[in-house]
This record gives sequence, structure tokens and C-alpha cells, in this order.
Amino acid sequence: MRTPIIASNWKLHKTRKESREFLNQFREKVKYISETEIALAPTYTSLDIVANGLEGTGIKLCAQNVYFESEGAFTGEVSPEMLAEIGTKYVIVGHSERRQIFRETDGMINKKISAVFEQGMKPILCIGETEDQRKQGKTESVLQNQLRNDLRGLDPEQVSETIVAYEPIWAIGTGESASPADAQAGCKFVREQIKKIVSKEAGEKVRLQYGGSIKPHNARELMSQPDIDGGLVGSASLDPDSFAEIISITEDLTKTP
Ligand code: PGA
Repeated sequence: MRTPIIASNWKLHKTRKESREFLNQFREKVKYISETEIALAPTYTSLDIVANGLEGTGIKLCAQNVYFESEGAFTGEVSPEMLAEIGTKYVIVGHSERRQIFRETDGMINKKISAVFEQGMKPILCIGETEDQRKQGKTESVLQNQLRNDLRGLDPEQVSETIVAYEPIWAIGTGESASPADAQAGCKFVREQIKKIVSKEAGEKVRLQYGGSIKPHNARELMSQPDIDGGLVGSASLDPDSFAEIISITEDLTKTP
């Protein structure tokens, strides 16, 4: 049984004050959650606020990005060691906004994943196709290339501990999620590829998230798909009520036979 994991991605939202306010409400709402792992990904400036606010809750701290070098002349960057030092457990790596706006390459993403593991944290690797690639029938080859290049050199144990988020780019921030069938097909393909490229065991163990306009109204259908083990939630994670509702729906599913 794979433990479901729901992670927030606050992107460039929430000041320290707003992060504190979110936590004050959110903690109460998810107190009873026991079967679903929860991770919160604030901006760098709110990481310590969230770390302190989560003490004793079991909710994990997640960073939205990291650099792969440990120190040096890299103005504006933050190292894996610095994130680990403040209690970060997960790091989102290769989000499509990093790839598209900040020109991150698969080579950089691959280095980031190794660097995250070296500091005892786990990556949430985001992959997914653009609308054009989808229209041209290239979804599977895009996913296959990203997996091959981003996971290169990792041992099977590390791959099985990586969380892979399948995030079709056309579904991110649009309010139009992939259909449950398409989200399931994407995740199933990812799992099969990992079985093929890495090992059968790694493919069976690896947890796969779907991401792209997850909302309370579509969470049940998306999260009940057999190859979807959780979600990476952007806009709907900014509001404590809607994020807690998505988590509670996921928790419910762990209890329905
Ligand atoms: P969204 O973002 O839920 O706002 O579509 C998801 C993401 O970018 O991870």
C-alpha cells in the first residue's frame, strides 16, 4: 500500500503574516488526518514560519526549489543543506514554471534531485507535456524523455523514494483539470516507464501525484484512480478550507474499501 501524499505549492504567494494566518486555521482542520501525508510548500521567506508552525503536527515542510551546488558564487540561490537545516523534508524540483520561465534543463533537474537526496530530503519531481505536445500526440515521448533524463544515475531505492508529479502544463492554473481518465493514463504510463527504466519494484513503490487544477469538486474522482497516489495543489492550496477539503477527501478514500 502506498501512502497518499497531498502537497501544496504556494508559488509566489503569501507573506510571512499570511503564512502564519493560514497555519492557524489549517492545523485545526487536518488534526484528525492519519492516513494521508501532508506537505506544505511556502516561499523561501516563509519556510521558517511554516517549520515552526508545523512542529508536533506530522505535516512536512516542502521547498519549492533548490540549487544543486552546496556553496559558492551563485547569487540568489539556496543550497540543499540550508533547506535541510531548517527541517525541510521535500523539495519540488522541475516544476514547469521553473522549466519554462527560468529555463531549467533536465540536466539541472537531474543534479538537483541528487543534491536533495544527499541532504536526506526527498524530491517531488514534476513532469508533463504542453498543450501543443499533447495535440501532436507527443505526451508519452515527452514524459519518457523527462523521466530518463531527470532520474539518470539514481539508484532504484532513490527512484522509489522520489515522488513524481504528473502535471500536464495545459491543466496548471487554468481551472481545467485533466479528466480523471487522462490523469490516470499519464500516471500509469509513468509507473510503467519506471518499471522498465529502473526496476519493477521501484515502479510499484514510487508514489505518483497528479497536479493541475485540483479542486475540492474534482478531487474525489482524481484521487481515486489506481495509479494516482496524491496531488500537488496550487491555487486551491492557498485557502485553508479548500486545501483541507482536498486532504479530507483523500483521507476518506483510504478508508473506503
Ligand atoms: P494549480 O497548480 O493547482 O493552480 O493548477 C498546480 C501546480 O502548479 O503544481
